[in-house]
Amino acid sequence: MDFSWLPTKRTCACPDGKLNCLTRAELIKFGSTVIDLKPRQRWREKHGGRFIPQVPEKFIMLFTHPGETVLDPFCGSGTTNVEAKRLKRNSVGIDINPYSTGMTLHRLAELDMLEKSNTMHEIVQGNCVEVMERIPMGSIDLIVTSPPYFDVVDYKSDNPEQWGNIHDYPVFLDKMKLAFEKMHKVVKPGGYVVVVTQDVYKKYAKCPLHADYISICRTIGFEVASTQVYILNYSTGGRLIYGYPKSYYPKNDNEFIDIFKK
Ligand SMILES: C[S@@+](CC[C@H](N)C(=O)[O-])C[C@H]1O[C@@H](n2cnc3c(N)ncnc32)[C@H](O)[C@@H]1O
Repeated sequence: MDFSWLPTKRTCACPDGKLNCLTRAELIKFGSTVIDLKPRQRWREKHGGRFIPQVPEKFIMLFTHPGETVLDPFCGSGTTNVEAKRLKRNSVGIDINPYSTGMTLHRLAELDMLEKSNTMHEIVQGNCVEVMERIPMGSIDLIVTSPPYFDVVDYKSDNPEQWGNIHDYPVFLDKMKLAFEKMHKVVKPGGYVVVVTQDVYKKYAKCPLHADYISICRTIGFEVASTQVYILNYSTGGRLIYGYPKSYYPKNDNEFIDIFKK
């Protein structure tokens, strides 16, 4: 892994202090706290918890300029990295699962065939806490990520650092705290960290992930910039009401997007 190219500089002509390259009129598209869109495209191969591209696109356009660098420490199939490249930003992607980093590299290469760009993309297989330790402090302009939704998705990996395999919620949150501490270290002062997640309802565990991430990130020193909602416009499967007639387990039709600022 090589991070000697970090930090990077914007390549646009925007003056210092301008948050993004958008005009006031263009910003209207991103003004709402609700993302309610049909998927623009889906990867052909399956990957648990993959983003629709509009999610990273929104925050990359809002919080960076061309030439700057976006990190996804849980990159999965690489949606953040692909959108970063498409939008002429550099990126770093980390995933514990070699299947995921392989898929990310494949997607970036596919995009290169359509349109060459001279942006940098470092994709590293490993535990994000250890890899972020190697990233220079304050060198990342934006983080857009989606950690495992506790143990809901089986990432088909027996690596002990695969956090999707942790079935003890407090232990999972302790691991996430380590990851957020490293994100706080690598993002630049004033930079944003966008975390997409879903609250998880299980018979024996009610896990309000988005709220617990807010508590953790506050103790680390992040400011909460916004909490947004992404409406899942596709079926998440299952029955409409779980637990009837004794209990209430709602069907998850939304994800949360926690936005933190350093
Ligand atoms: C919800 S998925 C991310 C999906 C991604 N947003 C996409 O669009 O494909 C979470 C990812 O976190 C990875 N992961 C789990 N534990 C990890 C760890 N300790 N370090 C880095 N990645 C990890 C999983 O392998 C999985 O690919």
